[in-house]
Amino acid sequence: MFRKILITSGPTVEPIDPVRFLSNRSSGKTGYHLAAEARSRGLGPVTFISGPTALLPDEVELVQVETAQEMRAAVLEHFRRSEVIVMAAAVSDYRSVKYYPEKMKKGGERITLELVKNPDILLEIGARKRKGQILVGFAAETEDIFVNAQKKLLAKNLDLLVLNEISEANPAFAGEDNQVFLLRPDGVRRLEKMSKERLAARIWDEIARLAGRPA
Ligand code: C5P
Repeated sequence: MFRKILITSGPTVEPIDPVRFLSNRSSGKTGYHLAAEARSRGLGPVTFISGPTALLPDEVELVQVETAQEMRAAVLEHFRRSEVIVMAAAVSDYRSVKYYPEKMKKGGERITLELVKNPDILLEIGARKRKGQILVGFAAETEDIFVNAQKKLLAKNLDLLVLNEISEANPAFAGEDNQVFLLRPDGVRRLEKMSKERLAARIWDEIARLAGRPA
């Protein structure tokens, strides 16, 4: 039983004007199943911070956000009291520098949209992690996947990194199934391709192992 579990899920949506936005293909399935599994195992109260998605779990404290900046504020508010933090959200790396309050008019053949980097929420909370807190991140890589993932594990001070290899055989974001690797500072384990529901259960097994508690 954990005192409090924090899960982020879904995409973030970064508005450009009243009708347009930047986002990604995250369905929120993995985050949803992580929350549902934590509830059905009775692992502790769950705060679920989610970008716009159709999949919202029951029996959680739900915080709905749109942008990366809103997600950051919500995570910082709940982070300190959380014993396990699972960052499954696909946070948009960039947002438009400017928000155009009127719908942008169709104009020239080419236009330029200037983007600015969003805060890296996981990096920030990794730096603030205290003893006893377990921090889990996700990564989606297409090249040099282990080198990049290992760097991320260290840079973000993670206890566990769920690594998706994005390829034609494993689109990861959109599908029902996923094949991942579980990276810990002391090693890597390849999981077979499985449903996102089963994957959520395997991730909780691993977290229980990290916490030294039975799953
Ligand atoms: O560095 P990268 O974006 O690949 O890291 C992915 C992990 O970091 C995920 O766990 C995601 O939830 C988190 N993340 C974040 N804030 C960002 C970008 C990613 O918390 N701006």
